[in-house]
Amino acid sequence: MSGAAQPIEGQRALVTGGAGTIGSAVVDQLLAAGAAEVVVLDNFVRGRRENLADASAAAGDRLTVVEGDIDDRALLAELTRGTDLVFHLAALRITQCAEQPRLALECLVDGTFNIIEASVEAGVKKVVASSSASVYGLAEEFPTTERHHPYNNDTFYGAAKAFNEGMLRSFKAMHDLDYVALRYFNVYGPRMDAHGKYTEVLIRWMERIADGRPPLIFGDGAQTMDFVHVHDIARANVLAARADVTDRVYNIAGAEETSLKGLALALLSAMDSDLPLEHGPEREVNGVTRRLADISAAARDLGWKPEIGLEDGLRGLVRWWVGLGAEAAEAVR
Ligand SMILES: NC(=O)c1ccc[n+]([C@@H]2O[C@H](COP(=O)([O-])OP(=O)(O)OC[C@H]3O[C@@H](n4cnc5c(N)ncnc54)[C@H](O)[C@@H]3O)[C@@H](O)[C@H]2O)c1
Repeated sequence: MSGAAQPIEGQRALVTGGAGTIGSAVVDQLLAAGAAEVVVLDNFVRGRRENLADASAAAGDRLTVVEGDIDDRALLAELTRGTDLVFHLAALRITQCAEQPRLALECLVDGTFNIIEASVEAGVKKVVASSSASVYGLAEEFPTTERHHPYNNDTFYGAAKAFNEGMLRSFKAMHDLDYVALRYFNVYGPRMDAHGKYTEVLIRWMERIADGRPPLIFGDGAQTMDFVHVHDIARANVLAARADVTDRVYNIAGAEETSLKGLALALLSAMDSDLPLEHGPEREVNGVTRRLADISAAARDLGWKPEIGLEDGLRGLVRWWVGLGAEAAEAVR
């Protein structure tokens, strides 16, 4: 036993990026698990207050939402004081990192350093950090284990996430800060950004299908992804805090390979549509043509396995998205 197991019950947790897609699901689950207090730090560049509406209705004054930036060291010192657990999710999207690498450096690298440094100063018991499958780039082995090397990654985002993991390891060695980093694969689920500039392909396809137009696939759609539902990722965060493990990284994925074409067909089925697929010209988006994770380490050490399969997950996503449209229509009425 390393003594790194932390209960959620009665603890105070700080969630950076807690108004985002995954962060808000982590907040919901921490409150449901009996956290004494959950503090969200988010600068709302992408996060939305609506994402925390359920949490704030259910938790009342156990939830505090702070609008602020992880570049604000004084604020981090204040927020980490008396905090037991830090869940660090604040980051920019991979596409924005490519467009604005200096901003990405300041947010993903300096910001993460600030969180780690403040956590050490405040005596935080454990940090659970969001890493990404992007650290692998296009992997050479499938299913890909955590021991796979990171040298095929050529994105700034993936480089920053790999460095985040390295920083956490070094602070464990220098200051004995307990941590777990989770490498999420292809994330989907409710509260995905439905309106922003970096809206995911699933949202664009739902819009087209609802308009009676076929989902558009650029190229043959043979590239594969490994999908994991937001709810399952939030569970992994909670289990990573609870498990008696430290100084480890884990793949968090569905451990099933789905092609882009297969995804479009599954979405058509979830929307009860018999529209055909439409193929457009190949577009070079990224060089990652295949993803499939080995998740046996998370199963063994965290007791984590995905609970929501793609078919059920997509149906839930569609229900959420249809509800968003209904809310918007209600608002303009
Ligand atoms: N969604 C995915 O496909 C995916 C895959 C792998 C890893 N991840 C990682 O999971 C984490 C959460 O991702 P998500 O999908 O919920 O993204 P998201 O954009 O919905 O959430 C990120 C949140 O961080 C906030 N934020 C950004 N910069 C900030 C700053 N400087 N200070 C304070 N808050 C800031 C945003 O407003 C947003 O609410 C991120 O670390 C991301 O890199 C996501």
